[in-house]
Amino acid sequence: MRILAVVGARPNFVKIAPLLDEMRRYPEMETILVHTGQHYDYEMSKAFFEDLEIPAPYLNLGVGSGTAVTQTAKIMLRLERVMREARPDVVVVVGDVNSTFSAAFTAARMGLPLAHVEAGLRSFDRTMPEELNRVLTDALADFLFVTEPSGVENLRREGRPEERIYLVGNVMIDALRRFLPRAKSHPIPHRLQAPGKSHVDLTGPYGLVTLHRPSTVDDRATFRMIWAALEVIAQEIPLVFPVHPRTQSRIDECGCCGPWREAATGICVVPPMSYLQFLGLQSEAKLIITDSGGVQEESTALGIPCLTVRESTERPITLSEGTNLLVGLNGRRLVEEARKVLRGEGKKGQLPRLWDGHASARIVRVLADQVTSGHEAKCVPARTSAPDFVAASHLPT
Ligand code: UD1
Repeated sequence: MRILAVVGARPNFVKIAPLLDEMRRYPEMETILVHTGQHYDYEMSKAFFEDLEIPAPYLNLGVGSGTAVTQTAKIMLRLERVMREARPDVVVVVGDVNSTFSAAFTAARMGLPLAHVEAGLRSFDRTMPEELNRVLTDALADFLFVTEPSGVENLRREGRPEERIYLVGNVMIDALRRFLPRAKSHPIPHRLQAPGKSHVDLTGPYGLVTLHRPSTVDDRATFRMIWAALEVIAQEIPLVFPVHPRTQSRIDECGCCGPWREAATGICVVPPMSYLQFLGLQSEAKLIITDSGGVQEESTALGIPCLTVRESTERPITLSEGTNLLVGLNGRRLVEEARKVLRGEGKKGQLPRLWDGHASARIVRVLADQVTSGHEAKCVPARTSAPDFVAASHLPT
């Protein structure tokens, strides 16, 4: 049985690592990993392959940066040839980035069975690039592997056939559970110093910030307003801010952290971190401020209060059961809620069901059972018999 797994951007690498690990347990599975090259910097790509022990990809399509349409078109053109030659039994895509949708469309057009890991999540905000990628990928997939019950409801509402939906848990949390001990012992300097700029003493309490979404950083007024809120919070707790390349460009453009200002703010802006470095820092942070999807889930799994600088989330279980709170694009609210966390009044949560480190095992078992038996992935027979497995049709409607 031949599986073609396609990845392209930073969060994909975290999700594919535990799946590849699991696939290795099945001698009958031959896995071909293809990297689209959407992310290409060492820090955004190779460092993750190293930390997560992902084997080098069979092929890197080298598409690089560009508009969403350019990226998508290039990936499709290059992948078509690869898929034609590899003739996989199933194509596996993860998450919601441009590479995910591009690979999904190519596979579907070529009549190849398609599995989408992290299916069903919806922010209901079509201005988010990822939302289109999610909706379109799910419309094409034969196997829809879902992290939380809201995803099952969304897929049902969109009329996806019940027997294609599998609530399996969260592969990102599989990776977190596996790598957390190593991340905690990973050397992080006691003093984190941005080159030639301010520093944060990591022996005391600190907050961790990640912001990279176009909706947060691309509009100058919005970004300045959030930065001003961060400056206020940083007077009470130092903030470490590993910056995504897009955010770095915005910081440079709007000059909000020139050397003299940064020294005064207590915001330590550092380059993007590797997986282990970031997870190690995250696990000890007192407060997390983010606009990332994955970081909302990781904070919930770690039990650390997370303030999400967005108007909506496609991961509502992190709000209802986890430690996540949406503060919107609202600087004043961000400061108020951060102060609550620092007073010890931050949200306490619990680990969502099935975020137990075994999501990849459930997924790979389904693929092994369903793809080999019958080979008719376009009309997948009912479900697996695995006892810890929750098929969507077992959930209340
Ligand atoms: C992508 C995903 C987003 C995910 C994020 C994680 C889409 C639509 N978005 O956003 O969901 O949260 O990855 O990082 O796929 N760049 C570099 N080096 C790199 C990669 C990018 O400098 O290795 C710069 C380029 O200037 C590029 C910009 O970052 O134009 C944005 O990269 P892109 O791949 O378009 O999307 P992300 O913003 O990274």
